Amino acid sequence: MSREYDNLIWTPSPEEIIKERDWINSEITDLGLPTLTDLAIKASEARKKSYSPYSHYKVGAALLTIKDRKSDGQNIEIVSYSETGHAEEQAAKNAVSSGTIQEEGRKFIRAIAVSHEGDTAPCGRCRQIISEFSDNSLIITADVEGNIRSITSIKTLLPYAFTPNDLGIE
Ligand code: THU
Ligand code: ZN
Repeated sequence: MSREYDNLIWTPSPEEIIKERDWINSEITDLGLPTLTDLAIKASEARKKSYSPYSHYKVGAALLTIKDRKSDGQNIEIVSYSETGHAEEQAAKNAVSSGTIQEEGRKFIRAIAVSHEGDTAPCGRCRQIISEFSDNSLIITADVEGNIRSITSIKTLLPYAFTPNDLGIE
């Protein structure tokens, strides 16, 4: 097999994947599984307040900040569809509204749990929004009862992101 284009192929190396798994592991250890379980339950509680008469697909989210604040949100649908707020988006924006940026800076999200039916993950738009407000963060997916399904990171879900740093903003 040709190695001619190897230097142009842009994917995480096996070492980088191991490093990311180690980071996820150390964050879980640091925060403790009970904290993440609590966050997943909060996401499932927030989900109950979803306003989703069009899709009937309820989503809830709860986030934990680097300074231990909590914030949650749920999807809020608008009949013209594109104005719909997603759960992760609402949780992040609610945190901003309550003054988190002034208290903690732009990169405030440490972990975010999302609760919904089915085995899925935050959409592309929400991944971009989470990236705006974190350096790296844990992404916890949970079922509608708040049982954790998976734990990953925003860097895994949105590698090579376009970030504020690319516009020279810290
Ligand atoms: N939804 C979210 O709240 N978050 C996501 O990232 C995926 C989609 C909502 C939007 C819409 O109200 C419903 O799920 C179906 O797409
Ligand atoms: Zn979304």
